Amino acid sequence: MSDQAKARIDELRALLHKWNHEYHVLDKPSVSDFEYDQAMQELIQLEKQNPDYLAEDSPSHRVGGVALDVFEKVEHDTPMLSLGNAFNEEDLRDFDRRVRQGVGEQVAYICELKIDGLAVSLKYEDGLFVRGATRGDGTIGEDITQNLKTIRSIPLRLTKPVSLEVRGEAYMPKRSFEALNEVRYQAEEEPFANPRNAAAGSLRQLDPKLAAKRNLDIFVYGIGNGLNTGVISHSEGLNLLDELGFKTNNERKRCNGIDEVIEFVNGWHEKRPTLGYEIDGIVIKVDSLEQQDELGFTAKSPRWAIAYKFPAEEVVTRLIDIDLNVGRTGVITPTAILEPVRVAGTVVKRASLHNEDLIREKDIKLGDYVVVKKAGDIIPEVVNVLLERRTGDEKEFAMPSHCPECDSELVRIEGEVALRCINPMCPAQIREGLIHFVSRDAMNIEGLGERVISQLFKEKLIHDVADIYRLTKEQLVELERMGEKSATNLIQAIQASKTNSLEKLLFGLGIRHVGAKAAKTLAQQFETIDSLKQASVEELTAINEIGDKMADSVYTYFRSEEVQKLINELKELGVNTTYQGPKKVNVEEIDSYFAGKTIVLTGKLEILTRNEAKEKIELLGGKVSGSVSKNTDLLIAGEAAGSKLDQAKKHGVEIWDEEKLVLELNG
Ligand code: IVH
Repeated sequence: MSDQAKARIDELRALLHKWNHEYHVLDKPSVSDFEYDQAMQELIQLEKQNPDYLAEDSPSHRVGGVALDVFEKVEHDTPMLSLGNAFNEEDLRDFDRRVRQGVGEQVAYICELKIDGLAVSLKYEDGLFVRGATRGDGTIGEDITQNLKTIRSIPLRLTKPVSLEVRGEAYMPKRSFEALNEVRYQAEEEPFANPRNAAAGSLRQLDPKLAAKRNLDIFVYGIGNGLNTGVISHSEGLNLLDELGFKTNNERKRCNGIDEVIEFVNGWHEKRPTLGYEIDGIVIKVDSLEQQDELGFTAKSPRWAIAYKFPAEEVVTRLIDIDLNVGRTGVITPTAILEPVRVAGTVVKRASLHNEDLIREKDIKLGDYVVVKKAGDIIPEVVNVLLERRTGDEKEFAMPSHCPECDSELVRIEGEVALRCINPMCPAQIREGLIHFVSRDAMNIEGLGERVISQLFKEKLIHDVADIYRLTKEQLVELERMGEKSATNLIQAIQASKTNSLEKLLFGLGIRHVGAKAAKTLAQQFETIDSLKQASVEELTAINEIGDKMADSVYTYFRSEEVQKLINELKELGVNTTYQGPKKVNVEEIDSYFAGKTIVLTGKLEILTRNEAKEKIELLGGKVSGSVSKNTDLLIAGEAAGSKLDQAKKHGVEIWDEEKLVLELNG
């Protein structure tokens, strides 16, 4: 190719990058849309003529590349967690109290808008955007790089050649949402219920050209591992993101103390409708990264941040009927059938009433006018009955004596409010068990949701979970609304689930009282399903997190002949039954200085990040605690250690510097 063409391509790429950043990030365009489009067309043309002169970050990728067959799964470098919720001032004050108990009185918070879109991770290597992914189950998401490249506020190249992972919320602005729904309405297509669904639906298009048409945008709100970037606070991190070329949200405020936070939160109740995008609350984060590190995480979310959720919208509608559902464990759940009504962006037709006691308590009758809201903005709930609107025609509701699915007699187990069908062959329970097996926290088989499982079950193609692994593509294409391609993808997803680690299978089997967390503990402890199968009740209860009830349930489960047969079948079908994650250590068996000791980390560490130090110590059987007490065995004092060092001296606790720690850890 000619040097001239090469030079022109370089020039166009640079110009388009600059114009793009000015328009989409800084909101300060310096050229007209016409000029931009012309330059883009010229670049596309030149790149077509010179296909060897490639660049991963060419602005031409913004218009969407080749369509994919399926999204690849990708593992996040650090898990993408979610946040705990606060619904009122009291919850915020409780959060503040917990924070101050952990790190002392000197705390500054950053308040940010909680954008109502979907979380994405963006990975950069040497300044180049290399991978974008959805949150997925927090550990494993989907590679949607091509679609994310079409979001023009996502830089394809940063202003510095740094390697980092950032996180943000991709969203659809209200105006784009309205325009999109108008087009869909005209084309007699189902409109999207809200901008969040529209954004999620757009990013899940296999054809990036379609995603490119959806006018999505993003606000980046954090760095995957901030400590690697040299910044010492979240607010500095956000400024760094701005400098690198990202779009962050400017409506943020650093607050000294919880009163200022509450003032910020209250202010946004009114200002919310004035924004061009939907927000569903305010996120409050501890600003200092050192304090964040000290506070750490629970299993699901950081202790240094909380999401304040705006109060749910409430509407009035009529309760037409009460339906009965049979759950996986046989529990009968009454569900209110409502006159369809719009609440917080979607049309609600049903709401769970949980159990008979709740119907009594709220004095709900058939035909009542009721107030409905969405709890946590997702799950519809009947708040109360409007007694003043009763006409006298309303009818009392009574729970049945027999299972609505299999007609066997229902029982009320002592101490429980729920009525239960105890027939193990009840088709509803089997169907629900299958749905649970394929769900996200269990075997996570994509494309195999409630609808497809119900169809397969109705067509008698599956009776138990092993049958899922016997399905053929030919059987699947026969189903309603299932094309060749979806069938192929589904078979692939089923195959892929065979390699899941044991805890997913254990949770999926639906053993009574065994939740996802307990399944993980059991898998870590026993490593194979065979050794778990042989465990005695005593061996099970010896594990810290396993109580009597769960131990009994696990033991009884594996004694069943049917269960043993099922597990053998799963193995024969190639389903993995071993644990594949990091091993849980037994403190007594570890020969290390740290085994059984309580260690406190303080000050700034230089060689290791605090998380790395914690992980390494824990791997060697030590426990890392946040505060110094008489039980502390050792304090690791980094740079500029403060009050904890003084306390440790007072208590006569052994004190090491980081270097000594590293030597011993490697030792
Ligand atoms: S910080 C450890 N900041 O809200 C999680 N999240 O559960 C840190 N979100 O799924 C999240 N705006 O996608 C953070 N300014 C903001 C946010 C934000 C929206 C979403 C996020 C996450 C959910 C919190």
